[in-house]
Amino acid sequence: MEDVYHPGLENVIACETQVSYLDTDHEEIVIRGYDLIALAKQKSYLEIAHLVVYGQLPNPPELEVFAKQIQQAKEIPTAILDILRALPKTTHLMDYLRTGISALAGSDPDLDDRSKEASLRKTIRLLAYMPQLVAASHAIKEGQEPFPSRPELSYSAQFLYRLTGAVPTHQEALIFDQALSAYIEHEMPNSTFTARVIASTLSDLYGSLTGAVASLKGTLHGGANEAVMLMMLEAQQADYVESYLLEKLANKERIMGFGHRVYMNKMDPRALLMKEALAQLVTVKGQEELYARFEIGEKVMLREKNLHPNLDYYAAPVFYLLGIPIELYTPIFFAARTAGLCAHVMEQHEHNRLFRPRVRYTGTRGLQVTQVNEER
Ligand code: SDX
Repeated sequence: MEDVYHPGLENVIACETQVSYLDTDHEEIVIRGYDLIALAKQKSYLEIAHLVVYGQLPNPPELEVFAKQIQQAKEIPTAILDILRALPKTTHLMDYLRTGISALAGSDPDLDDRSKEASLRKTIRLLAYMPQLVAASHAIKEGQEPFPSRPELSYSAQFLYRLTGAVPTHQEALIFDQALSAYIEHEMPNSTFTARVIASTLSDLYGSLTGAVASLKGTLHGGANEAVMLMMLEAQQADYVESYLLEKLANKERIMGFGHRVYMNKMDPRALLMKEALAQLVTVKGQEELYARFEIGEKVMLREKNLHPNLDYYAAPVFYLLGIPIELYTPIFFAARTAGLCAHVMEQHEHNRLFRPRVRYTGTRGLQVTQVNEER
């Protein structure tokens, strides 16, 4: 056995995939052969989801069918919402999401069918369920009823409406759609790896996504976008940001929204996309000070730690200016990533090899079991 140990599996190739690849040399996020940033600027989230799931961009009739299948998928059963209503109101929204996905498994007739056709049917249901589940969890936690669906709106516009109760402007819907596209798929982050590890035992899609939610909740991963907004609101205004961050760094704290295991010493291309979207929003909303606050944060972290922003750093203020409650940021991340996760689980089931790594044992050896005195 090769005794090579990579802590955190850093730079270890865990599997082969045709879904996506982070080409850091060329600063390209490859999604089924296309560049994600170019896709996000020219295609809708739903078109990119079709590409991620089916392997090709949809022509107009295919897109219409895909959108209709999602639109016509069942609403979340009341029994599932009742389970969420039974949760303590102190429950984190990511735990509502994890519970909801887990509970939905039992109502899916295709649950244990790993055929491509059944997996695609489950993916359609999950793409339909996620925005409902995210919005309903928040409403239930607030002791309110979820906003009614607005089938006349596009997928992203309806999703944003479900979160705020306000029909978004065209620009708001477009920016939210771009944010969903920025989050849709990103090679092998901890949550995707978690989903593939679970799928590699031939466990089901819902179970794989349930594990991925638990992973994404962590602040070193998806939970960062929520933490970024809370941090930058605590900094109060642009003039205080530098001293605020310097104090945190002096206390050896991690600054949420900065750094990335793959984008070492370079900016996450998705962060730049969201920074551009933020520039548009602050002008329309008259919130130029917020933009200044985030730009100063970026400059301080580059100067002090040579760390660049990741997607979460600039996605957070975009969600904030879209009027989305802060604790919904990570659930939105997960809802957007559903397309990528389903594609990876399908691929794992199609070309499976059980994940079962080994260890470098550093514990004690050679202890002998001695006869114990007490009666056995
Ligand atoms: C996402 O993998 C993906 O693709 C994930 C994601 C996706 O789309 O799925 O991109 C989404 O998870 C983005 C990352 C969101 N998380 C955060 O913003 C949390 C803050 N960031 C870090 O904790 C950190 O940068 C990680 C976890 C993202 C990456 O950490 P690594 O690769 O394990 O790097 P490291 O912890 O070994 O840090 C190297 C050095 C350390 O300094 P020393 O202790 O060696 O002196 O850099 C420092 C770290 O202390 N450092 C930071 C820092 N990130 C790294 N110092 C302060 N603030 C930070 N944010």
